Amino acid sequence: MKLQMMTWLEVEDYLRRSRGIILPVGSTEQHGPIGLIGTDALCAERIAEIAAESANAIVAPTLALTPAPFNMSFPGTLSLSAGVFKSLVSEIIEGLMHHGFDSIYFLNGHGANLAPLQAVAAQHANARVRIRSWWDFDDVSRLRDSYYGHWEGMHATPSEVAITQAAHRLVPPHPLAETPPEPLPDGFLQAHAGDRHGPPDEHRKRFPDGRVGSHSALATPSHGAEFISVAAGVVARDYLQFLASGNAKPA
Ligand code: NI
Repeated sequence: MKLQMMTWLEVEDYLRRSRGIILPVGSTEQHGPIGLIGTDALCAERIAEIAAESANAIVAPTLALTPAPFNMSFPGTLSLSAGVFKSLVSEIIEGLMHHGFDSIYFLNGHGANLAPLQAVAAQHANARVRIRSWWDFDDVSRLRDSYYGHWEGMHATPSEVAITQAAHRLVPPHPLAETPPEPLPDGFLQAHAGDRHGPPDEHRKRFPDGRVGSHSALATPSHGAEFISVAAGVVARDYLQFLASGNAKPA
């Protein structure tokens, strides 16, 4: 259930049986010619909501404004500095702990969030924090591989576009997305893990339509529905295991 949709009495009651909460984290940035600006946040949020239904967990409001400086040359991108983002996350963790949530599960949808999230988690030694991206799990990787192989690429990936198609909106085909993108050179994914990209103008010049090695047009809403279901299943199991490992009582 979504925290925003609960009353304080319901939250108090929940805290008597569970101290865990799932917090989706995404971004607000360009996702290629047919990908929604909110893709990362929308993917993490939808998977978190379905996982929370089966794990009987609360989902906190999605953090959709995060660092994405490299995409600022594309209209619609909004980027927070890492410092502001870290302060925001830090105060949210403190607020949750104040109310008795002691096991905080970040479900991430944007590579550039990982380093700042890990840094903030390290500063809160008294909080149990787990940080996972929805694509971290083998079941999800296998599915991405089987549908798209190397065309999954790095940004505006067909898997994330498929999820938003299933959950939110199917953008009509666009000529810029019909042609496959330039394939990424060997080692590019590793070298740029965590979205270590160059300055915004350089980034847009290098990837003019916004796709980074990803053939977004391979996405379909039915793939998306499958990604949501598979990812939500593994996330729910991982969340329950996280609670159990801290002797927190799963709901
Ligand atoms: Ni993305």
